Amino acid sequence: MNRSLHPGLAAVAGLLACLVLGTASAAGAGGGLHDAANNDIGNLPSLQRGAGNFVNYCMGCHSAKYVRYNQLVRDLQIPEELVVKNLMFAAVKPTETMEIAMHPEDAQRWFGLMPPDLSLIARSKGPDYLYNFLRSFYLDPSRFTGVNNLNLPGASMPHVLAELQGTQQAIFREAEVNGTVQHVFDRFEQVTPGTMTAAEYDEFVRDTVNFLDYIGEPVKQKRQSLGILVMAFLLVFLVLAWLLKREVWRDVR
Ligand code: HEC
Repeated sequence: MNRSLHPGLAAVAGLLACLVLGTASAAGAGGGLHDAANNDIGNLPSLQRGAGNFVNYCMGCHSAKYVRYNQLVRDLQIPEELVVKNLMFAAVKPTETMEIAMHPEDAQRWFGLMPPDLSLIARSKGPDYLYNFLRSFYLDPSRFTGVNNLNLPGASMPHVLAELQGTQQAIFREAEVNGTVQHVFDRFEQVTPGTMTAAEYDEFVRDTVNFLDYIGEPVKQKRQSLGILVMAFLLVFLVLAWLLKREVWRDVR
């Protein structure tokens, strides 16, 4: 009697499996750190701190041209006068977007390329990558910036947070990978201290990444909570449909 139900159940199971696998496959491969950012776009104080970090430490070089300042007033619940006073160094009106004044020709001369706009970086690279990227600068005198990056080897971004994190050196060891001996990353060793402890620095980076995650998709939180409601509705509906089907087929059988 229940046979006709099974394809439906299988479809639901398949859908759930896709959802689970889809989120799991976001983890990347390759060298570098692979820690989870564990940021939470529902955490308003963290997003507010992240906005401050971004304006103070990143906007010297990076724009976020799809973000308007007044969006921060609305979404992050930062009072407008605070946004104007503390975050709007590069704009006059809150309706303006987070642009910067760096000329592409200057950027080319200084870094060899224009630092990318960061509006959508969390969507293209993922929050975990950003969290690890900002924590994996290490001293490398052969680079023009004096540092290299474990997660983006040969990066032309200077370690702009060195004052906070301090400097570290990367220790590599030789290991056999697929039959050949290769240098693989072993650990970081602190060289000079920063103004923050390692835990404080991680927290600083997590807030900054949280902000980048939010600007990448400002409606993400709404979308996720709506998604849960829709799934709950579908489950309830599934039960109702099954009960109805049983009722209808009872007499036919
Ligand atoms: C002094 C200028 C400068 C500042 C300040 C700066 N960056 Fe960068 N950033 C760069 C340059 C140059 C690149 C391009 C690196 C490359 O592709 O080699 C870059 C690249 C990046 C990338 C892309 C990495 C990738 O995998 O392609 C991210 C993410 C990033 N920066 C985040 C930040 C954040 C967050 C801050 C603030 C904490 C910041 N940057 C501050 C110059 C800067």
